[in-house]
Amino acid sequence: MQFLLYLCTLIWMIMDSFEQLCQHRRSIRKYTAQPIEQAKIDYLLRCALMSPSAKRTCPWEFIVVRNEAKLRALSGCKTYGAQMFDTATAGIIIVLDSTLCDNTWMADGAIAAEHILLAAAEQGLGACWCHVHEREDAPDLVRGLFGIPADKEVLCAIALGYPDETRQNYDLDKLKYEKIHNETYSCNNGR
Ligand SMILES: Cc1cc2nc3c(=O)[nH]c(=O)nc-3n(C[C@H](O)[C@H](O)[C@H](O)COP(=O)(O)O)c2cc1C
Repeated sequence: MQFLLYLCTLIWMIMDSFEQLCQHRRSIRKYTAQPIEQAKIDYLLRCALMSPSAKRTCPWEFIVVRNEAKLRALSGCKTYGAQMFDTATAGIIIVLDSTLCDNTWMADGAIAAEHILLAAAEQGLGACWCHVHEREDAPDLVRGLFGIPADKEVLCAIALGYPDETRQNYDLDKLKYEKIHNETYSCNNGR
């Protein structure tokens, strides 16, 4: 009984801290020059490798980028929305094999990306998703930069670094609660 109480308390504590992590995680697009420790990159990758995928097909692969010239080149992969690579000290490119699953590769890749984003926030790193798939010539440019075969999909590049900007935590009182419905679509939860 005491063990069960301990277990429930532990679960509650973990749930609580996960909510706080979600509140804290924001897209960070400016980074200091401080390099990221390899142990932290390894931690993010382990978290990505534990992400769920449909039928456990694991269609993702991850390219770790530390090379400064390549990080800066990523900044020009599309007209807007890649400028975080002007200062990123590392990046993780998410590559997928769409032949391994039926139409779920994008969902599988997005979940892995979110594991990386949340793990980065937990480790005190700044991170931001840079979308590549179907963005101008970005997929071919990224394929060329990193030697990715033409039959692989490039979903996104996650920019990483120690934050050089502060973003406000999500305010629990200001979440879009109107997006929540009870039992039927027409019944809004409100608050
Ligand atoms: C699928 C997806 C694509 C995104 N693409 C980009 C992008 O190309 N460039 C960028 O600066 N941010 C990008 N973002 C980050 C969003 O702009 C950001 O998550 C959103 O504005 C909410 O802000 P927050 O992450 O601070 O909560 C992307 C996010 C997602 C989920």
